[in-house]
Amino acid sequence: MSYKASWRSPSNIALIKYWGKHELQLPRNPSLSFTLSACHTNMTMTVSTGEHPSLTILYEGNPKPAFATKINAFFSRIDSYFPWLRTSSILIDSFNTFPHGAGIASSASAMSALALCIKDIDDQINGRTNKDAGWWSQVSEMARLGSGSASRSVFPKAALWGTATGIVASSDHFAIPWQAEVNPFYTSFEDTILVVKDDEKAVSSTVGHQLMELHPYAGARYTTAKENLTRLVDALRNPPLVDRFISICESEALHLHALMMSGTNPFVLIEPATISIIKEVWRFRKESALPVCFTLDAGPNVHLLYPAAHKTEIMSWVKSHLLPYCATEKLIEDRVGSGPEKIS
Ligand code: DP6
Repeated sequence: MSYKASWRSPSNIALIKYWGKHELQLPRNPSLSFTLSACHTNMTMTVSTGEHPSLTILYEGNPKPAFATKINAFFSRIDSYFPWLRTSSILIDSFNTFPHGAGIASSASAMSALALCIKDIDDQINGRTNKDAGWWSQVSEMARLGSGSASRSVFPKAALWGTATGIVASSDHFAIPWQAEVNPFYTSFEDTILVVKDDEKAVSSTVGHQLMELHPYAGARYTTAKENLTRLVDALRNPPLVDRFISICESEALHLHALMMSGTNPFVLIEPATISIIKEVWRFRKESALPVCFTLDAGPNVHLLYPAAHKTEIMSWVKSHLLPYCATEKLIEDRVGSGPEKIS
């Protein structure tokens, strides 16, 4: 028998960062993200049962054996629930709408797309059709085992992953939808991504998480992240607290990179252009009084977050003042998005 599933799944940008994990992809602190729209992975998975077991991986239509290690590791974590993964001939064909490995969380969109395809095919094999809230939690949990941040990509607008004080439904095992808790002021936010450098980053997030285990400031980091999450949850409900939103976002971004630079094996992922852009953002915000702020992923690129209502003025400033810092003169005009979609 042959089965096929196609899903488009977005990347996400963390406002409160996940940096540090233990056991099987369990986070050291809760994180909260906006789900993106333009940056996504389109994936088709074809499974033939009763054939010689094999795994073929295509990326942009070409063989990509380099992805096999991560995908096989993921399969070995979940194949007790999906035994057909080890006994079938499997073809995975995907492409991203953004540069691979540039710190734009390609693992989040790719691993969430893969989790969705696997769950969809498993439903076809077992004759199930219902996609209730439990279905999405299971996909999030599965995606987490592929890549922690992927657990958050399966929900529209915003997601929260990790046990958080006072949030009863929160869990270290899966993300929970957070859209209903966010004022529409924020779910209309743009995310203009300034691509400072689009080549492969020198240190992967997985290695970065490992380095947190011996980090001298790890304990302080996890405490701060938890406090920031509580304060951000409050700000996201109240647009008048936008100044608090801005200060937490920027502090989290700089905290993440300060951790990279202050461990026992330090590394630097930002570039001089990253710092220049940050200073321009601070100057422009002071002069214009517009609510625009930055955050950073595990890479040099800068995400500019702001309400869509100010897009014209902000894009005009971006083009005149920030585009020259993008080595490739590239930017990605993204925004808070509506979550994964099944493609027919
Ligand atoms: C800085 O989810 O890519 O983007 O679980 O090892 O796959 P693994 O790591 P990953 O780490 C993301 C780190 C981050 C912050 C975040 O997205 O919360």
